[in-house]
Amino acid sequence: MNDKIKTLKEEIAKNIQEVKDEVNLNVLKAKYLSKKGEIGELSSYLKELPYEEKKSFGMMLNELKQEVTNLFEEKKKNIEEAILNKKLASENIDITLPATKIELGKPNILEKLIEEIESVLMSMGYDVVDGPEIEEDKFNFEMLNIPKGHPARDAQDTFYVKDEEYLLRSQTSPVQVRTMLQANGDKPIRMICPGKTYRRDDDDATHSHQFMQIEGLVVDKDISLSDLKGTIDIVVKKLFGESIETRFRPSYYQFTEPSVEVDISCFNCKGKGCNICKQTGWITVAGAGIVHPNVLRNGGYDPNVWSGFAFGFGAERLAMLKYDIKDCRTFYNNDLRENKIFDREEPTND
Ligand code: DAH
Repeated sequence: MNDKIKTLKEEIAKNIQEVKDEVNLNVLKAKYLSKKGEIGELSSYLKELPYEEKKSFGMMLNELKQEVTNLFEEKKKNIEEAILNKKLASENIDITLPATKIELGKPNILEKLIEEIESVLMSMGYDVVDGPEIEEDKFNFEMLNIPKGHPARDAQDTFYVKDEEYLLRSQTSPVQVRTMLQANGDKPIRMICPGKTYRRDDDDATHSHQFMQIEGLVVDKDISLSDLKGTIDIVVKKLFGESIETRFRPSYYQFTEPSVEVDISCFNCKGKGCNICKQTGWITVAGAGIVHPNVLRNGGYDPNVWSGFAFGFGAERLAMLKYDIKDCRTFYNNDLRENKIFDREEPTND
């Protein structure tokens, strides 16, 4: 019996040595080590052996199984190693080849401009706040002095969600009242809120169903139009250059009284008249005004004690002017060729 085991062991070792791949190795493994394999069959002899021999034969069998299992494992490792080595040899990396150039992304110009305005105003003590894009009719219109049925709603038709009470905000002005309500009517406020806004407009070079506004609100005591003018002046000088002048024209918004239209002197022709300023020498960049007493009241502020100013810039308009972009759809286009505009140099002011 001993001899039989010895010969079997030699045979297995020899066969394993000859195997070249994993598939054949597995076939071989099944041949010897599976339940019905040759080693398994040897176990059936156990029954027939006299008691004294059973023990030593059993031990020999176990030893054989262990040894053979090890042989198989070792061979498997060898095969895997050989595959890997072959792969490594064939995939030699030529480090002298020039690397493929990976293009670096650039921040969207709109984003850059918003950050620039944020940083000017933050340096003046303003907080940057956020508001929901899905807004309630109450905040987008009613609290801003624009009741249901008011004609001013026509120009701000938007997308309604669920029912008439929820909409995609048509302006960032609702954040004014939201901020006031959070401040409990007893603290001064200085905030800006840049964010997406929506209107039911057909997209063209100067209109988009989605665009961005930058809202500003200050509430404090004894606030006047000159505070507003001084603040806006600083922002536009920072954006367009120190020589830029600001002027206010009377206007009408439901949530400010008085209301103004903010014009800046044309940075292109310096006021002489050109295509950008439509020969007027001035460019309109924002709506603004002194916060209407009703709006202060809706925000929980007593208009006899507090006063404030508000302004709203159109971010696309500012960026189009600053970077000489002719079509506002460019900001949202995924075409990398068009996005080359984002590589545009910072215009030199003055
Ligand atoms: N929300 C106005 C609009 O979308 C812009 C605006 C005008 C905002 C006057 C203001 C403001 O805060 O005071 O047309």
